Parts: sequence; C-alpha cells; structure tokens
Amino acid sequence: MDIIEHLISEHRAVEDLAEQIRDADADVARRTMFDELEHELRVHMAVEEGWLDPIIRSTLGDDEADETETEHDVLRSALDTARPLVAESGFGAALDALDAAMRHHHEEEESDVFPVLQRDAADRLATLDPEALERQARGEAEDTRTYDELYAAAVEVDLTGRSTMTRDELARALEYETT
Ligand SMILES: [Fe+2]
Ligand SMILES: [Fe+2]
Repeated sequence: MDIIEHLISEHRAVEDLAEQIRDADADVARRTMFDELEHELRVHMAVEEGWLDPIIRSTLGDDEADETETEHDVLRSALDTARPLVAESGFGAALDALDAAMRHHHEEEESDVFPVLQRDAADRLATLDPEALERQARGEAEDTRTYDELYAAAVEVDLTGRSTMTRDELARALEYETT
C-alpha cells in the first residue's frame, strides 16, 4: 500500500471508530474505543507532519501546509475536550465536534492535497514507507524479536488469540497492548 492509500484508509478507520463510539452503550467500551481513536489519530497526524508536510510545502505552498497544520491543532483540541467527557452527558456534543472536524479535514486532504501530491510529487511519495514511518512516529524501533520470543511475551500478557497469530501479527498486537 502506498503512503496516500494508507493515509486514506486511516481516515476511514478513525471515522468508523467515531461511529462505533457513538453507538457504544457502555462507558468502558466507549473509553477503550476513544483511546484507540485518539492514539491512531495522533500517530496519523505525526506521520503527516513529519514526512508529508515538507512535500506539501514545496508542492502546494505554505498556505496549504499551514492550513493543514491548523486543522491538526483543531483536531488535537477536539480530542482534549472530548477525552475527560467520555463518561459524562456532554460527550455526545464533544464527539460530534471531533467527528465534524475530522471529516472536514479528511475531505480537504483527499480532494485538495493528496491528488496534487500524487500528480506533482509522486517520486517523493514513493520513497515513504508507511509502516516504517508509523513506527518512527510512535517512537519505536523495529521489533526484531523472533516468533518464539514474541510468543513468550504474548503468554506473559495473556494476549487473546495469540496461538493463531503469525510473527508480524504478534509483534503488532503486542505493540498495541503496550501503547
Ligand atoms: Fe491531516
Ligand atoms: Fe490525514
């Protein structure tokens, strides 16, 4: 998957999570899903800011790059507003605001930013490996443990479904457990 396809699939994933959070009927489930949404969105924005921003700046200009950054700040404050309200009655309104800000921003990137990058900066995009960037954005080195070492770690944390996972799936699941 190339970097743009990857970013677009993450847009849909966090939008779906917002829907699921809205439908969740228990505070615990809502909290777990909100934590996941927040984590995914923050890593996503860190990848865009770290590696896409310089390409946006030189391809579309500072105004478009600054607008993208401003919208990321709006998303961060919407996360900060919603987080303490997860189990409160005002959460619905805070989630709606976050969801609207996400959809506006994703629409902007997908219609005004990404197509221009794909047209004018394809060579630079091709040098970006989404999975490696995500690991860097999470501040993690690549997990070099063997299958047996990962499986032992999975037993340690009692990871559900571990017996059917491949090495890479174990690495990813453990990474998620510990973040
Ligand atoms: Fe973005
Ligand atoms: Fe994005």
